[in-house]
Amino acid sequence: MGPLIGEGGMARVMRGSLNGSPVAVKLLSSQFAARPSVRRRFLLSASVMSRLDHPSIVQVHQVIVQPGHLGVVLDLVLGPSLETVLRQERPGPVEVHVAERLMAPMISAVAHIHSKKLVHRDLKPENVLMSRGNGEPWPGRPRIIDFDLVQAPEGSTLVPTKAGMRMGTIPYMAPEQFGGAATVMPATDVYALCMMLWQVFAGRLPIRTFDPRSAEVTGIYNGSRPVPPLLSVAPHVPRALARVIDAGLSLDPDGRPLDAGVLLGLLGWVEAAQSTLAPTSQKTFVATVLPGVFEARRALPAPNDGSSDSQALRIRQTARTCTVLGGLLLAIGALLVFIGLGI
Ligand SMILES: Nc1ncnc2c1ncn2[C@@H]1O[C@H](COP(=O)(O)OP(=O)(O)O)[C@@H](O)[C@H]1O
Ligand SMILES: [Mg+2]
Repeated sequence: MGPLIGEGGMARVMRGSLNGSPVAVKLLSSQFAARPSVRRRFLLSASVMSRLDHPSIVQVHQVIVQPGHLGVVLDLVLGPSLETVLRQERPGPVEVHVAERLMAPMISAVAHIHSKKLVHRDLKPENVLMSRGNGEPWPGRPRIIDFDLVQAPEGSTLVPTKAGMRMGTIPYMAPEQFGGAATVMPATDVYALCMMLWQVFAGRLPIRTFDPRSAEVTGIYNGSRPVPPLLSVAPHVPRALARVIDAGLSLDPDGRPLDAGVLLGLLGWVEAAQSTLAPTSQKTFVATVLPGVFEARRALPAPNDGSSDSQALRIRQTARTCTVLGGLLLAIGALLVFIGLGI
């Protein structure tokens, strides 16, 4: 095993090698590896990660299971985290075309996660690494890491966290997460993505303290000190874009774009996200992201029409209508097959 390249709450990440190629090895610290509940969650999040296939998501190559040890072998990402980029390389408000390069491929990766009915639950600049290993030009390709808090749908083997347990990171944590909801939804990740977008465009976060008992933090979550509208702190952002981001930060999940695919469509960043994909991944992208985007496009309000809340509401309604219509078509199809078979 090579040198230490990162350390988090429960794990250490080291440089290693697998079949002659450099990799990253994330090892659960020994005191946690001894706890069955932590082992179970670690293994399940590794198995969830291995079901994902997107160029902006770090891939799992192997799971290490030994008595007293537990780890995953991952793609080694060479490059700084998005947090470092925003702090050191691009401090202050970021231009729209740069923000698009920093964020669009990542939002498309979250759309892929949502297409598998998963919720990441810990999206934040520290958990996005900007890969610059293969001569990729600045800012590099964003790659999402750290699926420790991933939530799978009910009924799957990955059980939701207990109600009342607060999981996530302030201020990216959505209000329902802050409130300790047992289950979260894709719109929970949309909140985190929109907080990151707000931060990128404003050049700062809306709060200065992350103490969960502070008035700044509780004010954000109970609505008494809401996140300021993006245009008030970043006038260079096009109005339509700002409206989508503000809606994504609604306290009520129903007021936000339904999932990351819909968010990508509303931002108008589909082409930017797709152009960064290899031709093979473009097929997956079309299958998983575009349906959401088309729903979003259809639901887009006419310019100057309505509030962001009513806009997001319409997106949800369109999505529901599509689901109902799809179900109806399936039922008719099944009926025809039965009739055809003479049953
Ligand atoms: N695949 C990787 N390639 C390179 N560095 C990584 C990789 N995965 C994690 N790291 C580094 O290790 C740190 C901790 O990893 P992370 O998965 O976020 O652990 P934790 O769950 O403890 O936060 C990251 O912030 C990053 O610096
Ligand atoms: Mg982390």
